[in-house]
Amino acid sequence: MMLAHQCSARAYLVVLVALLFSILLLTANRLHNGSPIRLPHFADGLRDQTGAGQQNGQRPPETERPITQGETGSTADGFCAHDWEFLRNENLRLSENIVYTRRCVKPIHGDVNRDVIGNVKDPLISGSVNINLGADCSQLAPPPCEPLGLGVPLGYPEPQGQYSHLLFGIASSYERVKESLPVFAHWLAGTGAQLVAIVSDADDTYLKPDLNALQTEYHNHGVNATILAPKFKESLPRKNTREDEVLRRPMAVEQIHFLLIRDMLEASTPQTQWLGVLDDDTFFPSLHPLSLALHQHDHTQPAWLGALADNWVSMKIWGFMAYGGAGTFLSVPLAKQLNPHLEDCVRETVVPSGDGMLRDCMYSRTTTKLTVIDGLYQNDIRGDASGFFESGRRVLSLHHWKSWYRAPVSAMASIARVCGDCFLQRWRFGTDTLLANGYSITVYPEGVKKIDLTRMEATFDEADSRFDFIYGPFRPRLGEDQKKSYRLEAVDGGFGRGEKFKQVYVHRAKRNKEVTQPVDEVVELVWDL
Ligand SMILES: *[C@@H]1O[C@H](CO)[C@@H](O)[C@H](O)[C@H]1NC(C)=O
Repeated sequence: MMLAHQCSARAYLVVLVALLFSILLLTANRLHNGSPIRLPHFADGLRDQTGAGQQNGQRPPETERPITQGETGSTADGFCAHDWEFLRNENLRLSENIVYTRRCVKPIHGDVNRDVIGNVKDPLISGSVNINLGADCSQLAPPPCEPLGLGVPLGYPEPQGQYSHLLFGIASSYERVKESLPVFAHWLAGTGAQLVAIVSDADDTYLKPDLNALQTEYHNHGVNATILAPKFKESLPRKNTREDEVLRRPMAVEQIHFLLIRDMLEASTPQTQWLGVLDDDTFFPSLHPLSLALHQHDHTQPAWLGALADNWVSMKIWGFMAYGGAGTFLSVPLAKQLNPHLEDCVRETVVPSGDGMLRDCMYSRTTTKLTVIDGLYQNDIRGDASGFFESGRRVLSLHHWKSWYRAPVSAMASIARVCGDCFLQRWRFGTDTLLANGYSITVYPEGVKKIDLTRMEATFDEADSRFDFIYGPFRPRLGEDQKKSYRLEAVDGGFGRGEKFKQVYVHRAKRNKEVTQPVDEVVELVWDL
């Protein structure tokens, strides 16, 4: 009798615990799915299906505003209502247990020399707490957010249509023009600059792309785009074409790319000064410094501005010309000089590249030569690009960020809206830490003093004498045990609403058979606006 009684008591207990547990789970689930959190901006431009591209230049609709503190009776500063859910968002793919640090950054705007590495005595990563993201947030004490003052330049002026003197052009497939939208919107939205996109497969009878709808989508994101089909339906015959050679239908993209100059001239206005011929993965952190750099040159005269390749092997193959991925700029008078010769130049060309055709046409029809602009980067780099991004360079353009290497460029460059030229600005903290603003936090176990930060770490493939004419001098690549990296993976926060802007840097724990409980480490820099 006694035994039976004990047994049923234990059963009761089990049922009770199970019941409590399921209530807990249900609540957590409801909180997770039901909270009207504002859509965060996750790092990978390709994965960005949150519509977060709209955060730039356009305010998200009111319904997407975060719950403000107090609404859910959670921790004092709204941590549970917003930040917690942000960390739990599946796009961030964090382990259940994390080491979490946040610092509340007070930008001290002033006349700082952003090329000098700042020194901060105290460590950057301090006040860390262990968090289980499956737990009940309201039971947690709010994590500390130790204040940190950083000297930074002034923010760039907000885009308010002041760049109508710039007109950009791309030639690419429908899919790629569509996919480029969120990242193009990052630097184009609200700027007044125009974009002309020629869709190479516009006449594809199977795909039947709707160019008008795509153009409207661009406009809805604040980008003044004109999206057009190519004028020519098949490739122009080259002078040396064999008789039996079949002309390509539709026209080869490299020919469309070269003929862009004419499409851009036709879309230009009396305000237009510069025609920027781009690749579909050319990225500008901000139009403000680019526009300043272009202003150093006379747009009323023929002028050809751009960047060389950064790999000497490419230079030997293709020669001295503007490499289009970095962005190539033609003054309107130069484009007008070339315009009547475009078809002939295509017929005469021996190179299968739009950039090469432009070079040959330039050298054979005009006396204009290339002027190289500092800060435009062709980025022919593969693999780990961290050496480049941690080198302290200021960049006007980036390229190959979603193919040869991967970097979440629009999330990275969002900091420019807070403090302009501070994108990729560097600070040393304590004895072992470096912040490359917007890209990474690096901990050097052997001490940051041992690192020659004036040199670029040779992290990417073939980072040797092939690349040193642009990136040198190099320092050797560090091993895994000599460098611990927290990479920027997401940003969060609105602008101009008295809100905070948050950078989320993540060090991923190894995931393999031996690691049953990976613990990712997260450092958030919360910038006071
Ligand atoms: C787009 O740019 C053209 C030329 O600058 C201008 O006339 C037009 O008003 C702009 N459209 C929008 C929607 O801003």
